[in-house]
Amino acid sequence: MAERRRLIAGNWKMNGLRAEGIALAGGLAAKALANKPTCDVVVCPPATLLAKIDRAFDAGVIKLGGQDCHADEKGAHTGDISAEMLRDTGCSYVIVGHSERRADHAEGDAQVRAKAAAVLRAGMTAIVCVGETRAERDAGNALSVVEGQVVGSLPPGAQGDNTVIAYEPVWAIGSGSTPTLDEIAAVHRHIRAVLDGALKAAATEIRIIYGGSVNAANAGDILDVDAVDGALVGGASLKIEDFWSIIAAADAR
Ligand code: 13P
Repeated sequence: MAERRRLIAGNWKMNGLRAEGIALAGGLAAKALANKPTCDVVVCPPATLLAKIDRAFDAGVIKLGGQDCHADEKGAHTGDISAEMLRDTGCSYVIVGHSERRADHAEGDAQVRAKAAAVLRAGMTAIVCVGETRAERDAGNALSVVEGQVVGSLPPGAQGDNTVIAYEPVWAIGSGSTPTLDEIAAVHRHIRAVLDGALKAAATEIRIIYGGSVNAANAGDILDVDAVDGALVGGASLKIEDFWSIIAAADAR
């Protein structure tokens, strides 16, 4: 079986004014320096903070990520940010297709795929989010919905060093409830099979991480699921101790 290094990514979403963001980043940088995590750690702050906190992560232990990007390199797209701009601001990862963007901005798989391709074009790693709604799970369609999103959103040339899949069931995000460990394992195994089928050998190193109400208390159990290669963390990534406990849980495995 392929050895995939675990990845813990924090998605701050639309949270953090300058002082909070600098304090949080500084606290995480100090933890990283003292504890030297062996897993990959990524922090995705709001775009307004990227240039403010990139120096906190200068040591290179914690990587910076964007939360979204436009598919084009530049041009007349008021308010948007290109993958190249994120790269230029110190990012090496970009989240694309988060369910909040799919819902708030009506982003479909084709658009997510174009954004993921832009991330690869700029030389970064795309964290492509997929996940079913509660209604889709209740109707027994979780696997087929996720499969459709993976197939539709994967960028051309996807492989382990440029693409991560984040399985984030919409109903688990910010809700405090998570799927059972067996349910998480079933979806991750299905995604792995879909990647193997679509990409053959290039799929082996692609990490599949779980997101949705991951916290300091449940991270260990979730990371013990052998099909889970890491976590995408929302709320708990805004608290230094909680986020660091999740990183420590990944390192302990
Ligand atoms: P929570 O960890 O707050 O549930 O958010 C998960 C998420 O959406 C990360 O992208």
